Amino acid sequence: METYKLDEIVVDILNARLADEYNAERFYIAASIWCDLNGFERASKHFVDEYHDERRHAHKLQKHASDWNIALTLPTVSEPQPEFESLTAIIEMAYKMEYALCEAYQNDIKAIDTEYPATEVFLSKFIKIQDEAVTSYSDMLKKLDGITTKFELLMLEKKIF
Ligand SMILES: [Fe+2]
Repeated sequence: METYKLDEIVVDILNARLADEYNAERFYIAASIWCDLNGFERASKHFVDEYHDERRHAHKLQKHASDWNIALTLPTVSEPQPEFESLTAIIEMAYKMEYALCEAYQNDIKAIDTEYPATEVFLSKFIKIQDEAVTSYSDMLKKLDGITTKFELLMLEKKIF
């Protein structure tokens, strides 16, 4: 008997988010290494946890698709390795990236409307994940307001991470 497969519109959405999750993983790998090289050990550990989380998110998307008899496309790496100027810049970039991904998942849910309830319920879990990511980086940015020197950042690192 032939099994049901996800429709193309859903597959396209899942492939796009899969690429985003793997890009997020790469971003946090680069961030953790930068922090390690620049003396921010706690921040480095935080970003290690982040890249493990991003890999798990990617795997969840792949599992949802394979449960519905579709193999998603493993994304090729086309973007250059991110470069960073400071820990503050990394946190700002992470905040923007997580916010953009939150919007993307919200738009995906709108796009599939109620036509694909299994995927709609599945994707709504990612809204919660993104909500937590966006608000945690937002909180970090508030603590960093007015901090300009590396010394101050090192002193504050324990309070942020
Ligand atoms: Fe993620």
